[in-house]
Amino acid sequence: MKLIGTGSAIPSKVVTNAMLSEFLDTGDEWIIPRTGIESRHVITNETVEDLGADACRKALDMAGLRPEEIDFFICSNVVNEYITPSLSCIIAEKLGLTCPCIDINCACPGFIYAMEIAETHFLAGKVRNVLIVSAEEPTRMTDWADRSTCVLFGDGAGAAVFTKGDNLKGIRLNARPDSSKIWQKRTLMPTPYVTKEESDVPLQMRGKEVFKFAVGASTTEVEALLKEVGLTKSDVSYYMVHQANLRIIDAIKKYLDEPDSKFPVNIRDHGNSSSASCAILLDECNRAGLFKSGDILVFSAFGAGLLSAAAVLEW
Ligand code: UT7
Repeated sequence: MKLIGTGSAIPSKVVTNAMLSEFLDTGDEWIIPRTGIESRHVITNETVEDLGADACRKALDMAGLRPEEIDFFICSNVVNEYITPSLSCIIAEKLGLTCPCIDINCACPGFIYAMEIAETHFLAGKVRNVLIVSAEEPTRMTDWADRSTCVLFGDGAGAAVFTKGDNLKGIRLNARPDSSKIWQKRTLMPTPYVTKEESDVPLQMRGKEVFKFAVGASTTEVEALLKEVGLTKSDVSYYMVHQANLRIIDAIKKYLDEPDSKFPVNIRDHGNSSSASCAILLDECNRAGLFKSGDILVFSAFGAGLLSAAAVLEW
């Protein structure tokens, strides 16, 4: 498949580290050196479905396609206010899409997982154009009295339109199932029959262990994927790495022995927007004119599951 359009949308409210220090024992001195985050965009009166629809409209505009020309719509999302219908159906209704649509919950690597599902449909000859959106509101998952998690996240949506082509050179998906490292639970409606204990638990994360998993998974998969598609690091123009923590990106950079200039970052003013992170970064870089024809982009993302994924895309 081939990428022909990107779009993104972010909430208008910007929350700086200084604003967090008004109600939490934290601030620039801890957050910047530990994560690289200076501010993040946080949902106030927006809905994640409106952000998702906005990002999709921009991507469709750039691709020059009408909603009825999309054959398949994939939405990557961890949480939103609706349990049913799916977020993809809600966004599809806003866009006037008429094609099948599905949601996937693959946490932070969701955009790359969606790319793999799209590519499979292209290879099966079932589609001409596929729309992907990653729409996330992780700021609604954390306990805002817990400084170890709430400072890390930001909300937003990123979208991409793919058509037939051979620009996607390869993808690797990886799962190391372990629900103890990043998890959150919510209660469902009570019934007269439920006897087990249930509770609402905000996002929990064993930061150091996830950090190690992220660096290990990313570097191993990037190297293996490049080998698989017959490329070397010197062929790579840019690494589009999940924006979870600047120190994770720095560690990956160091391990791969690649220069700063190959790692665009937007974590400073976005924080970690889960699966929307790679998609928003892609759109920002694209609209800034960073990529030229023939550039090799390597995507890498990791997160809850534990899941991780990497992809190689020629521009
Ligand atoms: O997108 C999903 C994938 N997620 C990730 O990739 C996240 C991976 N993990 C990380 O990015 C890092 O582990 C964190 C940024 C979450 C934490 O950084 P760390 O260097 O591992 O810090 P730490 O957990 O060792 O925290 C050390 C201290 C603790 O204090 P004590 O117990 O050592 O006295 C925390 O209470 O820092 C304290 N702390 C804070 N202090 C000020 C934790 N959060 C804060 C805070 N402000 N916001």
